[in-house]
Amino acid sequence: MHDILVLYYSHTGAVKEMAHAVARGVDSVPGARARLRTVPKVSAVCEAVEPDIPDSGSPYVDLKDLEACAGLALGSPTRFGNMAAPLKYFLDSTGGLWLKGTLAGKPAGVFTSTATQHGGQETTLLSMLLPLLHHGMVIVGVPYTAPELISTGGGGTPYGASHVAGMDGERPMTEDERRLCFTLGKRLAEVALRLVR
Ligand SMILES: Cc1cc2nc3c(=O)[nH]c(=O)nc-3n(C[C@H](O)[C@H](O)[C@H](O)COP(=O)(O)O)c2cc1C
Repeated sequence: MHDILVLYYSHTGAVKEMAHAVARGVDSVPGARARLRTVPKVSAVCEAVEPDIPDSGSPYVDLKDLEACAGLALGSPTRFGNMAAPLKYFLDSTGGLWLKGTLAGKPAGVFTSTATQHGGQETTLLSMLLPLLHHGMVIVGVPYTAPELISTGGGGTPYGASHVAGMDGERPMTEDERRLCFTLGKRLAEVALRLVR
């Protein structure tokens, strides 16, 4: 069994829901299993620490999760057209793995949620790919062979899965957005298994 790490940060729940849809896509591929992990918030107080295990939801990620995974799905809310600080903070701790080439050759895909339709989904997704490219990961997008990429009136991009949540998070994921999350997870797992073999 090969694990695909579904690593996300979510403040109000939209990206968390996407992560679960991506995980369902991973789990639909025989031989692959989703490992859901999150990151703690960052604090302006440098000494502040979170408990090792959050009260609820996915466990916090460990560098060992990156070592063990056969592929990575990375999800973040958009923050001014970029990924959220807690995820960036965690990625900035992966220099040791970069030196060893731990992630080189493993497949990776990305997903995001925004409040507004043109609020920077593509820039966020592309900015999330940059550190993964530095790590030598093989980028897996969402191809236009997925019919929902044409029919969607909300989120969905070839650079990764996306969701338009509304200013107050009032918009539930559309069926197209949900299917594109599933497709990303499934595709990532299929590519990972091919590369492992
Ligand atoms: C500081 C901050 C910056 C944000 N920047 C953007 C933005 O550039 N574009 C946008 O559409 N939404 C932006 N948002 C909204 C979030 O990306 C959006 O609510 C997202 O769906 C939240 O995901 P979550 O529920 O997983 O936390 C921002 C929110 C915050 C708090």
